[in-house]
Amino acid sequence: MKKIIGFETLAIHAGQPPDPTTGAVMTPIFQTSTYEQEAVGVHKGYEYSRTSNPTRSALEACLAALEGGSNGFAFASGMAAADTVLKLLDPGDHILTMSDLYGGSYRIFQQVYARYGVQATYVPVDALNRIEDIIQPETRLVWLESPSNPYLNLVDIGAVSDSLKKMADPPLLCVDNTFATPYLQQPLTLGGDIVLHSTTKYLGGHSDVVGGALIVRDDAIAEKIGFLQNAVGAIQGPMDSFLILRGIKTLPVRMDRHAENAHQIARYLQEHPGVSTLFYPGLPSHPQRHIAKKQMRNGGGMISFIHRDGPDAAGRFVEAMELFMLAESLRGVESLIEIPAMMTHASTADSTLSVDPALIRLSVGLEAVEDLIRDLERGFQSS
Ligand SMILES: Cc1ncc(COP(=O)(O)O)c(C=O)c1O
Repeated sequence: MKKIIGFETLAIHAGQPPDPTTGAVMTPIFQTSTYEQEAVGVHKGYEYSRTSNPTRSALEACLAALEGGSNGFAFASGMAAADTVLKLLDPGDHILTMSDLYGGSYRIFQQVYARYGVQATYVPVDALNRIEDIIQPETRLVWLESPSNPYLNLVDIGAVSDSLKKMADPPLLCVDNTFATPYLQQPLTLGGDIVLHSTTKYLGGHSDVVGGALIVRDDAIAEKIGFLQNAVGAIQGPMDSFLILRGIKTLPVRMDRHAENAHQIARYLQEHPGVSTLFYPGLPSHPQRHIAKKQMRNGGGMISFIHRDGPDAAGRFVEAMELFMLAESLRGVESLIEIPAMMTHASTADSTLSVDPALIRLSVGLEAVEDLIRDLERGFQSS
């Protein structure tokens, strides 16, 4: 049979053959905790659903195929996936990461793992261009987001990986690929060791499920993560695995439309006098546009901008929206708007990572773009 390689084909079929017992085209939701054994230890590959479950296995195989990895692991949330990566570390180990980072990652580093003797250092993205100068002997994990949350900074993942691989005992390179998705960018193929997703976002795509995932390409790392997934048990349930699988089937078409809409909105905002600084990796004005061209298929669906008139005006702006919903989270079919400093990144307040209080983050959905631009115009008029 001809080898199937198209991303769109993998999104629909990878890990999801028709059910052999019924022919069902959609992977069934195996809502079972345990499995009958013919004799002690003689079973069909499933013993207990914390260890593995057929619906979750289908999702994990699909995620591995989409990221170009060998193994995928599905968790109860993006943070459960992050927690599992951090459990690969020992007390005394060090994390090198970025000062522009999802607030929940900052919180788990500072308020959970620091208590167990794991310290993190946060550096501006530009410092990663010379990572060999800032890495510490104890650094066992480099943690990247590209595009980052909320400033949409980009990191040259291949260049960071090349620098790390020259070291005698390189730390693990983990890339949070939530903003880009594997359709736009595949960190494992650029040299990353672990890819993390909050599948709650674009992969699920419909704001109806919370989930997380890790994907790797190395068997030794896969074995450690598989062990932790079973030992700790923060697994994705079968119903939620089904919802994410269903979402993934339309990921490529959704991502193309998210990016088309975002591109038009970014061009509108670029010209608008109410915007003091705009952040969108799909525009030539983005300072790391050369990296976007190198490693991303398009600019994605997220835009951030600083309101010229400051935090109070930003507050009036988001409250005036009728279509953009004021909500945390992002990347569903519907457009969302938020003020990171007070919402998703509240945990970074009073730290060196604190975010400009007039920064507004848009998750551009799939509505008619003219309606979205009209909504934004209403925001500027009310603020
Ligand atoms: C970039 C990024 N990583 C990880 C997470 C955490 O994911 P979850 O909310 O599914 O735990 C989020 C959530 O917003 C995120 O934006």
